[in-house]
Amino acid sequence: MKSYTDITNKTDSSYNDLKTDKALEFSESVVIITNIKGIITYVNKKFEDITLYKKNEIIGKPVYTLSSQKQNPEFYKDFWDTLKTGNKWSGAFHSRKKNGEYYWCNSNVFPVKENSQLIGFISIETDMTEEKKLIDINNDLRYQLSEQDKIASLGLLTSGLIHEIYTPLSFIKSNADYLNKKIHQFENISIHDINDCKDVIKDINEGISNIEHLVKELKGYVYDMKPNITIEKFNLIDIINNILFITKNEYKYHSNIELHYDDSIKHDIIGSPSKIKQIFTNLIINSSHAIREKYKDENTMGLISITIIKLAEFYMISFKDNGIGISKNTIPNIFNPLFTTKKKGIGTGLGLSIVKEIIEKNYAGKIQCKSKKNVGTEFKFSIKINNK
Ligand SMILES: Nc1ncnc2c1ncn2[C@@H]1O[C@H](COP(=O)(O)OP(=O)(O)OP(=O)(O)O)[C@@H](O)[C@H]1O
Ligand SMILES: [Mg+2]
Repeated sequence: MKSYTDITNKTDSSYNDLKTDKALEFSESVVIITNIKGIITYVNKKFEDITLYKKNEIIGKPVYTLSSQKQNPEFYKDFWDTLKTGNKWSGAFHSRKKNGEYYWCNSNVFPVKENSQLIGFISIETDMTEEKKLIDINNDLRYQLSEQDKIASLGLLTSGLIHEIYTPLSFIKSNADYLNKKIHQFENISIHDINDCKDVIKDINEGISNIEHLVKELKGYVYDMKPNITIEKFNLIDIINNILFITKNEYKYHSNIELHYDDSIKHDIIGSPSKIKQIFTNLIINSSHAIREKYKDENTMGLISITIIKLAEFYMISFKDNGIGISKNTIPNIFNPLFTTKKKGIGTGLGLSIVKEIIEKNYAGKIQCKSKKNVGTEFKFSIKINNK
């Protein structure tokens, strides 16, 4: 990702030149420059539009005037510690406008150095109030749904996805801004600048491809999850890969996944893809929770291993993890509706009862569970293949 390192090593006079730079003044991002003590020495036009402060009202004031002071103390400590050691700080800042209204912004704060001495800071911010509202609404929605319905897992997945979509979007925004700034300097553009712009365009395209890929996968997931059960031709491996992609945020930080199958599984089968997705989504989320619980204080990656073999007119599936496991006394209860060992808001206890019902009623199969506390869990199940 392109960073603004080119403005962090300015001499004192060119640092001051930044304040008369037209590209900064009319940038679509909020720009704030402070001295080393955090006293505001410059703000641009966008800053006035968003915060409602006029330049002459805020210049000379400490930058914390703009902070809501509502983020936790460690947050502010990390912010200042990072900057004072000469590093760039990036993150979401909860700020306060002149009229007392709060807003969220995505900030990139760069230390400015002169002869390796820190002389001030430049903050480039984009307003993210709308995105933050979306995430909050999604979190509320997720909680309400988890009280009522297994579809809660969809809420859980989408908040992760909003984050994944927002990340490339925020660097697309800041890169586009950088290009805009460069374009204003076109009359004396150098080869170095042209190469910089090429790099930035490459980053923008990469961000767009990431979003495109996510949205395409999400479309496939939502389409197959529509309430009317459709019976259609589908490929089991494609469906599992789609689920692994959609649930990635759930497991990627603590689990690796292996998928084993041979060529006999590659043919299309007939059935309800949404039901198959429900089976795998539930099992992956359960295993991911079990692994996270087991390795919570360690930096170890767990393993979820899915193996599919064909036996006569059935697919036999083994779904195994090396998570926290289930005690002997608990195993007989796990398929009962509403049985859960998880905290309120995390589990409703419906997942495995739904999985069992789908396997038995929709796919004429059977499911069993073998588990050992602190070693891991294996679900073995069969689904009848219908290919006509
Ligand atoms: N892979 C696993 N490893 C360890 N325990 C598991 C595993 N899968 C299920 N369990 C246990 O079985 C219980 C029931 O699982 P189930 O999926 O039905 O409900 P849940 O995960 O608690 O809630 P949800 O309705 O959100 O799925 C869990 O609470 C957990 O104790
Ligand atoms: Mg579950």
